[in-house]
Amino acid sequence: MQWLKFRRTRSGENLRTNTQQDKINIGFVTLVSVVAAIGGLLFGYDTAVISGAIGFMQLLFHLSNFMTGWAVSCLTVGAVVGAALAGVLSDRFGRKRMLIVAGILFSVGSIGSALAGDITTFVIARIIGGVGIGVSSTLVPLYIAEIAPAKLRGRLVSLNQLAVVIGISAIYFVNRAVANAGGQAWDVTTGWRWMFGLGIVPGIIFIVLLFTVPESPRWLQKQGQGERALSVLERINGRAQGKIEYEEIQRSTENETGSIWTLFRPGYRIALLVGIVLGILQQVTGINAIMYYAPEIFKHTGAGTNAQLTQTIIVGAVNLVFTLVSLWLIDKLGRKALLLIGTAVMTISLFVVGYEFHSGHSSSALILTFILIFVAAFAISMGPVVWLVMAEIFPTRIRGRATAIASVALWAADYLVSQTFPVLLSGAGPAKTFGAFGVMSIIAFLFTLFVVPETKGRSLEEIEQSWGRRSSR
Ligand code: GLC
Repeated sequence: MQWLKFRRTRSGENLRTNTQQDKINIGFVTLVSVVAAIGGLLFGYDTAVISGAIGFMQLLFHLSNFMTGWAVSCLTVGAVVGAALAGVLSDRFGRKRMLIVAGILFSVGSIGSALAGDITTFVIARIIGGVGIGVSSTLVPLYIAEIAPAKLRGRLVSLNQLAVVIGISAIYFVNRAVANAGGQAWDVTTGWRWMFGLGIVPGIIFIVLLFTVPESPRWLQKQGQGERALSVLERINGRAQGKIEYEEIQRSTENETGSIWTLFRPGYRIALLVGIVLGILQQVTGINAIMYYAPEIFKHTGAGTNAQLTQTIIVGAVNLVFTLVSLWLIDKLGRKALLLIGTAVMTISLFVVGYEFHSGHSSSALILTFILIFVAAFAISMGPVVWLVMAEIFPTRIRGRATAIASVALWAADYLVSQTFPVLLSGAGPAKTFGAFGVMSIIAFLFTLFVVPETKGRSLEEIEQSWGRRSSR
C-alpha cells in the first residue's frame, strides 16, 4: 500500500535517500509540505473562530444586526484582498517570503482582535488577519504544488485542506472549552478574547518554521536563479531526476512570456475558466452554510442547544475523516473521478435535505444523516481537489497571478454565501435554500464531466503543455 510506504520512508529512510540521490526524499518534501500546511490551519481556525465568539461580543459591544453581520464577514473581505495581492506579490517576491508575510498579518490580526476595545478596532484587526488568510490560502497549495514530485502532488497539496479542516474542528472544541471556563460574565468580558488570541500560537510557529523551508524551485528558476532551483530539485527528487525536472522547467519557462495576457490565449482561457468556475462552485454548493451555521440549521430540525453543539462536532469529525480518505485516494483515482463521485453524492444529499425540510414533517435524524453524507462527499472531492487544481493548472511564469484570480473568485463566492445564508434561511426557507445548493451541485458535476481535465501524475510542465496543445487544435 502506498500510504504505508509513505509512512515508513518518512520515519527512517530519508537520510539514506539523500546520499543515494536516486529516490524521492519523501521525508523532506513531506516535512516541508507540513510546515506550509500550517497556513491551512490558520485559515480554518480563523474562519471558524467567530462563530463561537460573536454571541458574547454582541452583548459586550451592543451590536446591531448589521454590525453583527459585518463583524462576521469582514474577514472574508480581507481574504478577497489578500488573495488578489498574493498573486502579483508572490510572482515578484517569492512564495516563501509572502507566506512569512501572511503569518505576520495573521498574528497581528489575532492579537489585535483579542485586545480590541471597540468594534471598529476589532473589524480592522480581523481585516488584517483576513488579508493574511487570503494570501496563505492561495499560496500554500501553490507552493506545495511547485515543490512536490508529480506522483505525490495531490496528497501533499491536500495536506493543506486537511489542516483547514483540523483548524475548523479545533475551534469547535476551543469555543466549547472557553465557554465552559468561567461562566457567562467572564465570557462576555474576557473569554471570547482568548478564542482569538490563541491563534497567535500556530501563527508564530508558522512564521518560525517557514525560515527552515526552501523557496519554490519553479519560482527560483523563473527568477533566473537556476543553481538554487537545481539544488532544491535534487534534494527532493534525487540527483538524476532532479536534473531532468530542472531541464523540463527551464524549457517551459523559456517558452512563456510571463504576461498575464497569456491566460486569454485559446488553450489557457479554458484553464482560467476551470480555475474560476471551480472556485465559485466550491462555495455556492453550500459547504460554508454548514461550516459556519451548523447549529442554526440543526435548530430548524428542532434540536435543542446541547444537541446542536454535539451535532456540529460530529460534522467536524466527519469532515476530518473523509479528508483523510481523500488524501489516500487523490493520486490513485485522480482529481476528476473524485470530483464526479463527490458532486454526484452531494447533489443527492442536498435534494434529500431540501425535500425533508419541504415535507413539513422533517425527521431530524434523516436531515443530520444527509448533511453528514454531504460533508463527507465534499471532503473527498470539492474541498481538497479545487484548491489543488487551482494550484496546478496554470503556467509557471504566471501561476501566482492566475491562481490568485481563481482564489479571489472563491473568496468572493464564500462572502456571498455566508452573507446571504441567514436571509435565505429565514426568507426562502431551508427547503428552497438546500434545493438551490443542489442545483449548483448538478452544475458542478456537469462542468467537471465536460470541462475539467485530469491532472493526476503529470508534471506541472506537462499540464502546461497540454493547454498549449488544446489551443493549437
Ligand atoms: C475548503 C473551503 C472552505 C471550507 C472548507 C471546509 O477549504 O475552501 O471555504 O470552509 O473547505 O472543509
